[in-house]
Amino acid sequence: MRAPLADLPVVLANATVVAGAVTILDGVSLSLDAGTPTVLIGPNGAGKTTLLRAAMGLTPLTHGEITWGGRADAPPTRRAILFQRPVMLRRSAAANIDYALGMTNMPRAERIDELLALVGLEGLGRRPARRLSGGEQQRLALARALARDPAILFLDESTASLDPAATKAIEDIIRAVAARGVKVVMSTHDLGQARRLGGDIVLLHRGRLIEHGPAMDFFDNPRSDEARKFIAGELLV
Ligand SMILES: Nc1ncnc2c1ncn2[C@@H]1O[C@H](COP(=O)(O)OP(=O)(O)OP(=O)(O)O)[C@@H](O)[C@H]1O
Ligand SMILES: [Mg+2]
Repeated sequence: MRAPLADLPVVLANATVVAGAVTILDGVSLSLDAGTPTVLIGPNGAGKTTLLRAAMGLTPLTHGEITWGGRADAPPTRRAILFQRPVMLRRSAAANIDYALGMTNMPRAERIDELLALVGLEGLGRRPARRLSGGEQQRLALARALARDPAILFLDESTASLDPAATKAIEDIIRAVAARGVKVVMSTHDLGQARRLGGDIVLLHRGRLIEHGPAMDFFDNPRSDEARKFIAGELLV
C-alpha cells in the first residue's frame, strides 16, 4: 500500500451542518493530518457520524468549508468509509472484494488474496459473505474499504457490536494500515480503544468540538469540564 498524501490534510473550517431546525455540526474547525489515527468521541448524537460523512465528502455543509490537500473539489478516489453495519453483497467474500476493486490493472485474484490475508480471512474467500460472523463481516468490510488503496480511511464505530477478540482483530488491522501510511479517522464509544489507537482525540458534544489534542494529554490532563466528565463516565447532557 502506498502513502499518497494528495487528499491530506483534510481541513474543516467552521464546518456546520443544519438539518431542519437542528444544528448537527456547529462550526467545527479541525485539521486531519497525516500520521497516527484521529479518534472521535462523544455521546450519542454528538455529531461523530455526521463529521465522518462530511469529511468523506458525503454530507454537504450548510456553512463553512472542507478542503482535501488544499482543494475543495478533490474527487473522493483516495478516501474510503466504513459504516457501523456494513452491507454485504449476496455473494462470496472474494466476490465482495472483487466488486470493490472496480477497474484495476493488478491481477485480481492475487489482490483479493492479499486483502483477505490482511484482514485475517485467508481461506474464507469462497464463503458466502452473509454467512460470515459479525466480526468476520466487519473484517471483510475493512478489506473492501482498503481495496482501492485509500489514503484516508474513515471508520464509524467499527467494533461497536463485537466481542473483545473480534475487537482486537480489527484494532490490529487498524494499526497495520496506519503503519502503512493510511490516515485513519474513526469514531468509537470505547474509551479504552480511543486510548489504545488514538494519536489524537477529538471530543464532540452537541455538534461542537469541545477539545482536540494528543491522546495522552487528553486522557491524563483534560482541559474542559466536558472532557473530564466524559472520561470519568459521567453523563454529558
Ligand atoms: N438528516 C437529519 N435530520 C435531522 N437530524 C439529524 C439528521 N441526521 C442526523 N441528525 C441528528 O443529528 C445529531 C447528530 O447525529 P450523528 O449521527 O452525527 O451523531 P453521533 O455522534 O454519530 O451519534 P451516535 O453515537 O449515536 O452514533 C443526532 O441528534 C441526529 O438525530
Ligand atoms: Mg454515529
